[in-house]
Parts: sequence; C-alpha cells; structure tokens
Amino acid sequence: MVERAMALGREAESMIRALALISAEEGHLTRLYLTPEHRLAADLVRRWMAEAGLDVSEDALGTVRGRLAPESGGRNSVQRLLIGSHIDTVIDAGAYDGALGVIAGILAVREVIKKHGRMPFGIDVLAFGDEEGSRFPATLLCSQAVAGRFDPASLQVESVDGVKLEDALRAYGKDPAEIPAAAYEPGEAVAYVELHIEQGPVLEQADEALGVVTAIASQSRHSVTVVGEAGHAGTVPMNLRRDALAAAAEVALAVETLAQRNADDFMVATIGKLSLSPGASNVIPARVVFTVDLRSQTDARRIEAMNWLREEILAIARRRRVTAWIERTHEAVARPCDPALQAGFATTIGRHGGKSAIHLPSGAGHDGQAVGAMCPIGMLFVRCRGGISHNPAEFTSVRDMGLAVAAMIKFIEGFDPARLGRLRRADD
Ligand code: GLV
Ligand code: MN
Ligand code: MN
Repeated sequence: MVERAMALGREAESMIRALALISAEEGHLTRLYLTPEHRLAADLVRRWMAEAGLDVSEDALGTVRGRLAPESGGRNSVQRLLIGSHIDTVIDAGAYDGALGVIAGILAVREVIKKHGRMPFGIDVLAFGDEEGSRFPATLLCSQAVAGRFDPASLQVESVDGVKLEDALRAYGKDPAEIPAAAYEPGEAVAYVELHIEQGPVLEQADEALGVVTAIASQSRHSVTVVGEAGHAGTVPMNLRRDALAAAAEVALAVETLAQRNADDFMVATIGKLSLSPGASNVIPARVVFTVDLRSQTDARRIEAMNWLREEILAIARRRRVTAWIERTHEAVARPCDPALQAGFATTIGRHGGKSAIHLPSGAGHDGQAVGAMCPIGMLFVRCRGGISHNPAEFTSVRDMGLAVAAMIKFIEGFDPARLGRLRRADD
C-alpha cells in the first residue's frame, strides 16, 4: 500500500513540476487568471483529465471540468461529487498551492476508474482559474459561477494591468453571456471536496501528513486610498505637511493592532500591496493606495473589526488633514466543513496512519467558500514544510502527496450521497 502511495506521490510530483514550468516569468512561478499562461496550464490539465478517462469541457469563466458519468441506472444518477482546486497562482508563487488539489483529483479519479469503472454517483474534477485574486480585485469568480452565485457586476472590475474582466474573458475566447450555464442544477452537486496543502505549520508540528479541515475563515479585502498634498521634501516644514504615506503608515500599525487584539478569533490582517505617487525621493507623497486583507474565524468579528478600522482610518485622516476612503473589493463568508464529509476524511486518514485524525481550521481562503453556497463542502489538508506558502520555498514531500492521493481514493470509494444526507439531517 505504501509502495502504491509512493508511486502516486512521484506521479503527482512530476505533474506539479510540469505545471510549475508554465509561468509568466522565467525562474519564478506567476500564473494569473485569463493570461496566456492560464491557457497553457488549462490545456495541460485538459490533457491529463482526458488521459485519466474523463470527459473534458470548459465553462465561460475558464473552469476546466473533467467528468466521470455515473454507472448507468445508478441510484443517484443525477448526483455528482465535485473535486476541485485552482490553477492560478500568486506572484512569485510556490508550486503546490491549488495545483496539488487539481492533480490529486485527477489521479484519484483515474485510480477509481481503473478499479471500479464508474461509481453510483457522477464525479466532476474542477480546475478553477481564479482563487488567488492576484490579477483582478475580485476572487473565487470561477467557483461562484459553478455555484450559480456569480455577480455580473464583477465583469466590470479592472485588472492590475488595466483590463476589464469582461474584455479579458472575451480575449480568452469566452462569452460572458454563457456564464449562467456554468452553474450546476439544484441538487446535482451533492458535495464539493478539495485537497490542499495546509499553508501553515500545524500538521508538521503534530508530525502528521494529513488533517481534516473544520472550517474556512471569513475573509474580506479592501482598497484604501489616502490623498494628501505633494510638496518639496526640502522646504515644507514637518508640521505643515499633508503626507499621504505617513498617514498610511499609521493605518498600517492600526491594522496590526486590530488583529493582535482579536487573536482569540484567529484574526489576521495584512497590507500586502501599496503604491505611492508621485514616487520621487524629493517629493512628499500625495497619494497612497493600499490593500487590507482581513480574516477571522467568524463573520461577526470580522465585520465588527472592519467597522472599527473604517472609523480609525477616518480619524487618522482628520488628524493629519488628508482625505481617505475605503472600498471593499472581496468578501467570502466563513464556511464550516460538513460534519459527514469531515468524518469521511477522518476515517480515511485513520486507515492510513492508524492514529485519530487531526482537525484544524483553514485561515487561507479556498474555492469551497464559494461552492459552499450550493452544497456541503469538505477539505483535506496535506502537510507542507515549515508551513511556508505563497512563497517559492513551498514544499510538500512525495510521500505526503502520495498519502493524500491515496486518502482521496479511499474517500471517493467510501462516498455515499445518501449517507451524507442522513448524517446532515441528524446534525441539523
Ligand atoms: C488564497 O490563497 C488566500 O489568499 O487565502
Ligand atoms: Mn490555494
Ligand atoms: Mn493561495
């Protein structure tokens, strides 16, 4: 069994390497939504899905779908288990975030086909194109569409390179009018599961390869603009300045303090992007635009914190005689993982490792947050070295990937939509 898992892990590793070569920058991995690199990666994934025995299609937002039909006359013939993750990356990314979930889904279903042919339920493997939100100030667009929750207003958002989503879609060969057809029919998708690297240190510290996710954190992203006044760096006395960067710096510390004060709800806050203008060493900054990414385990705490921050930003602006405003660019609610799906993954892990499975929350966002508006979701985490992610040093071992794919195979083999419904009703 361990031999078989190792072989699957080696296969996963070579597929990870092949995908990681598809990048906008040589020597670094950057693969943004609806770019030529996205196209190449989607084509490679399409090929892998077809080789695994899946029927491949692509929807109007570029999500690649590999479908295994249910066995004919199957009791649950219109019900599908969805397995997905994403093929876009952050800028200068690691190779495993998202990619591993897609690859593991393909490998697991391929093995299930080899062993069983079809299952009583259908299976779709999904490769989403926009989980990171690194190109457009919106994210989970693809997964919102499959859940029938795509907001047409998103078509107007502009990318970092000044392209409207609508135009980028057309340039990618897609028709935005077809987006509603990406959604599953009510009742068709019975569950969505995703395998993902942990992106944190908990599993490594516990010396466990795999863990069961209990919930995905609540998250919102914002754009803050501070406008002061440009001036001569040599002549304007400090007390007469309206320095937009100094104001932004005070906001940055308020953001940090806010998260520290709410640590009991696992709140984290990050300013990951900042630009200032005019941007010269001898000119006082007149305008600063920066992002605030805020996450917490509960929606209420996050919303309360954001309200406090909004007031604080306005107070800082008043004190410093600058103008400031804040716009929300993305929001994903906290999404608990379904107890029956958690139990399914825990049983599978138990079979492999012997010990009882670790349960842990996810601070990172995932497509399941959007898909969870349509059907129950579950996630399986895989250990990654040092808990490092969104960093080229991201690493998961061949062995751990093999165990993860083997666990996904067992999960699919043990999956029963009827049991899922019963367990959920018992829990309601
Ligand atoms: C996705 O990786 C996120 O930022 O949570
Ligand atoms: Mn991810
Ligand atoms: Mn990520």
